[in-house]
Amino acid sequence: MHPPFHLAIPVSDLQAARAFYAGLLGCAIGREARRWIDFDFFGHQLTTHLVDTAPAPGPTNEVDGRAVPVRHFGAILAWEDWHDLVERLRIAQVDFLIEPHLRFAGEAGEQATCFIQDPAGNGLEFKSFKDARQLFARCRGELMHTDRKAHWEQVYRDKLPLDLSWYQAAPTLSRALIEASGIAADAALIDVGGGASTLVEHLLDAGYSNISILDISAQALAHTRQRLGERAAGVQWIESDITSFAPPVRYRLWHDRAVFHFLTEAEDRRCYREALEGAMAPEGQVIIGTFAPGGPERCSGLPIVQYDAARLQEALGDKFALLETRSETHRTPAGKDQLFNFFRLVHRP
Ligand SMILES: C[S@@+](CC[C@H](N)C(=O)[O-])C[C@H]1O[C@@H](n2cnc3c(N)ncnc32)[C@H](O)[C@@H]1O
Repeated sequence: MHPPFHLAIPVSDLQAARAFYAGLLGCAIGREARRWIDFDFFGHQLTTHLVDTAPAPGPTNEVDGRAVPVRHFGAILAWEDWHDLVERLRIAQVDFLIEPHLRFAGEAGEQATCFIQDPAGNGLEFKSFKDARQLFARCRGELMHTDRKAHWEQVYRDKLPLDLSWYQAAPTLSRALIEASGIAADAALIDVGGGASTLVEHLLDAGYSNISILDISAQALAHTRQRLGERAAGVQWIESDITSFAPPVRYRLWHDRAVFHFLTEAEDRRCYREALEGAMAPEGQVIIGTFAPGGPERCSGLPIVQYDAARLQEALGDKFALLETRSETHRTPAGKDQLFNFFRLVHRP
């Protein structure tokens, strides 16, 4: 059990506080004295202290277009309990400060919230997360980290790399674009979401000596390391979600085939761009391959975003100048054709 917190708040009428906290919210009453009452507030100790003058209304901050009282407290309830409470508040015809509503409805991070005030004007928020694990996620991008990692670990556990729809025996276009970048053989380059791709062998064979492979899936990296055998020691292996990647060095080249297009949330794309900007040396080159308009709308059971040049440029911002776009039809191991666009850009901070 977590240690219960203790919170003391001012009220201008103890009997009104008793009716609100015990009568309406159902909080059991603990010890009490002439000027204070303890309540069992959803397992925590709330003390209402009598003050002679009603507390002045505090400042508000705008969240999603609504004025949220900055000073507030409340409880994060189980999904069903939140709905029961809201029902009770509605029956009691409570005036909501912010009406019950859903945020991120139907998406990861779906949460329900509402604000009310006690008779002394203290703000209370009651909320509930559809997935309680997302309570401390810092941004919407991060909300999905656990799920995203679990998904990709499972993919690489369930299938052999050769059976994955994105498998390529020879990453010819990636190789051609990397060559077109003109980077030196010893320049730092990173393959983002490299997974079990054979690109790393092709690069080692071509003499590139400063290669990092990043992937969210430890299982995918393990496949590739095993395949490389002793050569794996000459490569840096990074297990990370790209949306929270803190680049340890500046790279001259960033390659991403079929990773960026999985970021369907604006916040995730912002985090990716932040990692990219922090990772790239000035004049460093970026190669990104995505499904193209007219190509698949999903991959590995997940939705994706299709990119043409204009959309990619908009997503990456003006610190990256587009040098060229090439299209490719990838034939999957199951014999399906998938339309890709590959973009080569230069970092001009
Ligand atoms: C469609 S596969 C492409 C793999 C490889 N680039 C290729 O061309 O064969 C997507 C890869 O990106 C990885 N991935 C997906 N989301 C990621 C994320 N947010 N951060 C890092 N890697 C990710 C997956 O584990 C998977 O290996």
